[in-house]
Amino acid sequence: MYSDKVMEHFMNPRNVGEIENADGVGQVGNAKCGDIMKMYLKIEDGVITDCKFKTFGCGSAIATSSIATEMIIGKSVEDAVGLTNRAVVEALDGLPAQKVHCSVLAEQAVKAAIYDYAQKNDLVIKGLENYQPVDDDHDHHHDHEDEDDE
Ligand code: FES
Repeated sequence: MYSDKVMEHFMNPRNVGEIENADGVGQVGNAKCGDIMKMYLKIEDGVITDCKFKTFGCGSAIATSSIATEMIIGKSVEDAVGLTNRAVVEALDGLPAQKVHCSVLAEQAVKAAIYDYAQKNDLVIKGLENYQPVDDDHDHHHDHEDEDDE
């Protein structure tokens, strides 16, 4: 069911951990399964020189985040913004259909981390102009029925 590559990245994920004083940090979550992915970027002169991740999630999420870090290290932030979940799935030689959403998390985590970098440095990055941070659905208060009069 899983390709050798998925299994390999799941068993030996690359670039696990965090980067102190990262230039960009992004966290995204999937509201349905509750899995969370956090990505840290080191960026020098617009190029991603290091990337680490922590994924509290399923095996496919771990494998996709692992390969995504390998795919973006050495890339410019503009190129990394263009990383699609489809490219991640292809690089893993495929994922079962019901696991494709896990790869979306990797794409979103990379974008979220680059967005954070852009915000901190007052940059507009090509491909992220219309980016809306993904709401990862923790700690929401849905109860504003009362007392919200202006
Ligand atoms: Fe949640 Fe894979 S099942 S990310």
